Amino acid sequence: MAFIIDGNKIAADIRKEVKTQAMELKEKEGVVPGLAVVLVGEAPASLVYVKRKGIACAEVGFLSREYRLPSDAKEKDLLEVIAGLNSEKEIHGILVQLPLPIHINPDTIIEAIDFRKDVDGFHPYNMGRLLAGNPAHVACTPKGIVELIKRSGITIEGKEAVIVGRSNIVGKPLALLLLAHHATVTVCHTRTIHLSEITKRADILVAAVGKPEMIKADMVKAGAVVIDVGVNRLDDGRLAGDVDFTEVAEKASYITPVPGGVGPMTIAMLLKNTLDAARLSAK
Ligand code: GUN
Repeated sequence: MAFIIDGNKIAADIRKEVKTQAMELKEKEGVVPGLAVVLVGEAPASLVYVKRKGIACAEVGFLSREYRLPSDAKEKDLLEVIAGLNSEKEIHGILVQLPLPIHINPDTIIEAIDFRKDVDGFHPYNMGRLLAGNPAHVACTPKGIVELIKRSGITIEGKEAVIVGRSNIVGKPLALLLLAHHATVTVCHTRTIHLSEITKRADILVAAVGKPEMIKADMVKAGAVVIDVGVNRLDDGRLAGDVDFTEVAEKASYITPVPGGVGPMTIAMLLKNTLDAARLSAK
């Protein structure tokens, strides 16, 4: 039976560290980290995430502001909000909750954010820094995954890492981050042929596809570290990951649960990125 990595506990430790560091920044520089979260529309999942971000900010002593636009808001309206936030001194981090309504081009929006305030790490500048092996703001979920692995005492260097999923939010930046930590990295996706042949090679297997319980025990090497990024709502209301937890936990050495694995780490890393942005602004 695998060791179950407790993301809630590790994320709570990080939030405590961030709170202490934020207090020091306030004492030394008089700067309080400020995060603006922008939500367009009212998708239920997005509402939940945005609310959690506000609560997390309050808990660590950050200033947080929420901006809500109707689902039929124009791209121009959103760009105006971003331009305002770019020039606001008290705001160090800007997060536009994704996905956006289909009539708004997410690339246009992300590129409009001042890259120094891009605490999501999605701006081409920050993606480019990661690609160049000189990371600045790194996307929160990939950064949280690496932190979970490291704080569990697992070595990344030299390991064979396989990521299932190639999104800009998780798969691609995670591949670059694991590469920077000297793993041998393979990225699989929907068009990958013989998927299980590849996943079975993984010392570290990350599932970020959005298909409930698709990773079965026969796709996993005995003793692998299995990280589940999936958050899938089933018809019966249950939350399921991308990994068949019951089966795979019998075979893996470490595994993350859903919920309580990667999820809480994403917000902890958002706080960390916001703190970093506030520190840089004080320089
Ligand atoms: N939607 C799902 N994950 C994320 C994230 O990390 N950042 C933003 N802005 N939107 C998301």
